[in-house]
Amino acid sequence: MKLATLAQPGGLDQLRITDGPEPGEPGPGEVRVRIHASSLNFHDYSVVSGRIPTDDGRIPMSDGAGVVEAVGDDVSDFRVGDHVVSTFFPEWLNGPAPIANFSTTPGDGVDGYAREQVVAPARAFTLAPAGYSHAEAATLTTAGLTAWRALVVNGSLKAGDTVLTLGTGGVSIFALQFARMMGARVISTSSSDAKLEQLRKMGADETINYKSTPAWGQRVLELTGGRGVDHVIEVGGPGTLPESIDAVSIGGHISLIGVLTGRAGEVPTAKLMAKQARLQGLIVGSRAQQQDMVRALEVNDLHPVIDRSFPLAEIADAFRYEEAGKHFGKICLEF
Ligand SMILES: NC(=O)c1ccc[n+]([C@@H]2O[C@H](COP(=O)([O-])OP(=O)(O)OC[C@H]3O[C@@H](n4cnc5c(N)ncnc54)[C@H](OP(=O)(O)O)[C@@H]3O)[C@@H](O)[C@H]2O)c1
Repeated sequence: MKLATLAQPGGLDQLRITDGPEPGEPGPGEVRVRIHASSLNFHDYSVVSGRIPTDDGRIPMSDGAGVVEAVGDDVSDFRVGDHVVSTFFPEWLNGPAPIANFSTTPGDGVDGYAREQVVAPARAFTLAPAGYSHAEAATLTTAGLTAWRALVVNGSLKAGDTVLTLGTGGVSIFALQFARMMGARVISTSSSDAKLEQLRKMGADETINYKSTPAWGQRVLELTGGRGVDHVIEVGGPGTLPESIDAVSIGGHISLIGVLTGRAGEVPTAKLMAKQARLQGLIVGSRAQQQDMVRALEVNDLHPVIDRSFPLAEIADAFRYEEAGKHFGKICLEF
C-alpha cells in the first residue's frame, strides 16, 4: 500500500511517498479501513513543516475517512462496507477532556492517515454522515468537530445568538455553517474582499476586512448596536484576541482555538474581566461529540466547503497551497 512519511527535521521536502506492507487482519476490537481521503489542517502543516517535531518516519495527517474492509471479533459498531471517519483523540470517547496534548493524535504523537490502509481500534472511528464523499467526511475529524464543540457543546449556541468568525480557514467556515444551521446571526472577517463576497453568499450577515479595518472589534460593536457578539471563534491567538475581547458581548464566550498569529502575547485582562466574558481554550472534541455532529449534519443535509483536492502523491503541493493562504474552506487529499 502507498503511504507518505515525514523524515526529521521536517519540512515539505522531507515528505516521501513509499510502499509499505499491508496491515493484515484486525484483532479483537479492531477494524481494517481502506482510507480514501484526508484533509489538511494548520496542525498538520505545523507537523510537516517541522515546527512540531515528531518521530523520524512519522505518517502525517490527523484526518482519515474511508471504508471498513474487515472487522475483528467483538466489534459491534461497524460492518464491512461502512463509511467511517477517524477521531482526533482515539482514547477520548466521551465526557470531559482527559488529555491536554497531542501524544495520542494520529499524524503527530502516533502515525496518521496519509496511507491507504490502517488497522486500528474501532473506537478510533465513527460512522461518516450518510451521503458524504470520503473527502467531505475527512474534513470532520479536526476542523468540523472543533467548530461544533466551540459553538454547540461549550457555547450552548441558540437561535438568535450572534457568532463572529475570523478568516476563511477550515474551522471558521464550519463555524459559519453551524451557526447558520442553528439559526444564529453571523459576522465574518477575512483579509480578502473576494473571500468576503463568498462569505456573504454562504449566509454571513455582515463581513469585515480585518486588513483594511484593523479595529474590527469596534466595527463588530457598531454592527451589533453596541452589544457585541455572543460567541467568537478565535483562531488568531495573540494578534487577534484583543480585538475579539472588544467584539464580545458582556458575558459572552470566546473559544480560544488557534495560534495563527503566534503562540504567546499580551492579553488585555482588565477588559476581559470587565466584559465578564468566558475565554475557553479547547482542542477538538470527543468521539461522542463527533457522533452528535454527524447526526446534525445528516438531519440538516449540511456539507463542508472543499476548496481543492490533491492526490496523495502531491501531499507536499497540497501543503504549499495551504501555506499560500488562498484557500477558502478545506483542502483535501483523495486516494
Ligand atoms: N484548538 C483546536 O482544536 C484547533 C482545531 C483546528 C484548528 N486549530 C487552529 O485554528 C487555526 C486555524 O486552523 P485552520 O485549520 O482552520 O487553518 P487554515 O484552514 O489554514 O486557515 C487559515 C486562514 O486563517 C485566516 N487568518 C490568518 N491570519 C489571520 C488573522 N490574523 N486574523 C484572522 N484570520 C486569519 C486566513 O483567512 P483569510 O484568507 O480569509 O484572511 C487563512 O486563510 C490554527 O491556528 C489551527 O492550529 C485549532
